[in-house]
Amino acid sequence: MRIAVFASGGGSNFKSILDATRTGELAADVVLCVSSRPDAGVVERARSAGIAVHVIPGDMSGNLAGLIRSLRIHDVDLIALAGFMLLIPPRLIRMFPDRILNIHPALLPDFGGKGMYGMRVHRAVIERGSLHSGATVHVVDEKYDTGPVVLQKKIDVLPGDSAEDLAARVLVVEHKIYPQALELFARGLIVFDGRKAIINQRPDTQS
Ligand code: GRF
Repeated sequence: MRIAVFASGGGSNFKSILDATRTGELAADVVLCVSSRPDAGVVERARSAGIAVHVIPGDMSGNLAGLIRSLRIHDVDLIALAGFMLLIPPRLIRMFPDRILNIHPALLPDFGGKGMYGMRVHRAVIERGSLHSGATVHVVDEKYDTGPVVLQKKIDVLPGDSAEDLAARVLVVEHKIYPQALELFARGLIVFDGRKAIINQRPDTQS
């Protein structure tokens, strides 16, 4: 499986995915990093790891042809969004049916939707007084955070947690479940029943 990671931030999820391919925990290759920001940490990480980088020079719709060309050149068959700040256009979603994943730093469907990203998510969880949060890997559809859930892991919100404390603990979970979810795809273990993603069999790496 040939993965393109789309990211606009520091790229810690990019790193966890790349590391998993290199340890053999994930039977796939990261062949491309796509970013909306040339100065993003993830771009530097990808370059120093020898991974090809495609920077989108503006909005998605005006630059889609160049992006699609890059995806074809690198023969990408699955896209992993990891802190990517642009909305994926319907044409790209149709080109990769059920093959675009995203990681969200909360337990979807809670704390998802337009405007719910980054620290805003963790602040909302703390403000609501939720006892739990976590991370969700889901398939991307044409709306924000509404596609089928592939993997989810719950953690406790601890008394006195700040949004930053919670973000740090959720990130640890993200680094674990994103490679696991990708491995399920690499091994062909995900099947779809309507809008539900079903795991046919647990992979060895699952815990
Ligand atoms: C993560 O918290 C992810 O859940 C969200 O964006 C953040 C990306 O962090 N979608 P990083 O760039 O992978 O460190």
